[in-house]
Amino acid sequence: MLSFLGFGRSPKKVTIEGVETPIESDGKETILTAALKAGVRYPNNCRVGGCGACKCRLVSGKVKELTESAYILTAEELKAGYILGCQAVPKTDVVVHVDHIDAGAPAHPLVTTGGTISGRRALTHDIVELTVTLDEPMKYTAGQFAALSVPGVIDQARSYSFATAPQADGNRTVVFYVRAVPGGQMSNWLQGDAALNHRVQVEGPYGEFYLRDSGAQIFAMAGGSGLAPVKALLEQALNDKLNRPVVLVFGARTQKDLYCLDDFAALKAKWNADFIFIPVLSHEPEGSDWQGARGFVTGFIEKRIDPQAQVYMCGPPPMIDAAIAELERFSFRANNIFFDKFLDQSHTAAAGKGAASP
Ligand SMILES: Cc1cc2nc3c(=O)[nH]c(=O)nc-3n(C[C@H](O)[C@H](O)[C@H](O)COP(=O)(O)OP(=O)(O)OC[C@H]3O[C@@H](n4cnc5c(N)ncnc54)[C@H](O)[C@@H]3O)c2cc1C
Ligand code: FES
Repeated sequence: MLSFLGFGRSPKKVTIEGVETPIESDGKETILTAALKAGVRYPNNCRVGGCGACKCRLVSGKVKELTESAYILTAEELKAGYILGCQAVPKTDVVVHVDHIDAGAPAHPLVTTGGTISGRRALTHDIVELTVTLDEPMKYTAGQFAALSVPGVIDQARSYSFATAPQADGNRTVVFYVRAVPGGQMSNWLQGDAALNHRVQVEGPYGEFYLRDSGAQIFAMAGGSGLAPVKALLEQALNDKLNRPVVLVFGARTQKDLYCLDDFAALKAKWNADFIFIPVLSHEPEGSDWQGARGFVTGFIEKRIDPQAQVYMCGPPPMIDAAIAELERFSFRANNIFFDKFLDQSHTAAAGKGAASP
């Protein structure tokens, strides 16, 4: 009866205005998932209803919304019928309009595969490197992320960015850096002994954080585990023999929060242009043996940035918000700013507004 009325879990047709590829949702998946599975470059970022990147206007049809979108969309957008593609499951055939599709964004096929956590290594007191051996390879572009779940243990997936450049084998193994979030379910489970050799599910790739074509300076900023996608991006640029100048500012609290310093020293040694790497500590005790920079990442923007630079940022939402405010202060061009906020459930309800990579 329900499916007779169009509300069952039968496949639904999703028409994205201006996109010729026919799309079908299986009745359970969101508009975003259906679009990515069909290889459509549908804008997406956090995947959890926290950033607004996937917003689209519902032209016709009905959807079930998985989370409250009113926090992210403005009153005008809600009135105009905007919804979040990552949170909307079609209940009937639907037609949607997406305001802007980035023609240069990665469009790898969305893969859902099992995998095994085959390696785990502590990088700091609260960040681990996880290696996952996948049952099926997953193509991705440096900067993108995957949704990881632990079937039967933690079924709701969390997003983790790939920490290395894609490998020539199409990525049979993938690497993530995971920081333990206080009170966080997945990130703490992944740090525990039970995680090693455990089966997981990995779906991806997601996201539109990727290195755009240009000869301009790469001005990168990272905080905490936000270093992972930035490292992948720079490794990919090295593999591609790019010779763009780089300034990378890595924000941490104290020396015990620093990691991958040798990896960046090696990248710098091989880089074909200027490569300035600035680890900066915000809470290092006065009088310690630290000889490097102190303060916040934002303190280095105006001093080091080239006006034509492209800015790439990843990490905690407050760091990115502060950096954007600083860039706005001297009228830096917004369309040269790209970022991934590492939103979690404490942010997705209210704080993700504006988080999408433009
Ligand atoms: C695009 C993207 C890429 C990311 N990449 C990485 C990465 O490479 N590395 C990485 O470490 N992290 C990354 N993250 C963050 C990651 O996805 C997880 O959010 C993070 O690991 C926390 O997950 P958790 O299960 O441990 O915490 P959760 O259990 O989800 O909880 C997170 C916090 O929210 C609080 N909380 C839980 N439920 C609620 C609620 N209902 N209301 C209010 N507060 C609540 C918890 O107490 C905790 O403090 C990324 C996020 C995004 C969006
Ligand atoms: S991708 Fe949908 S709100 Fe972020």
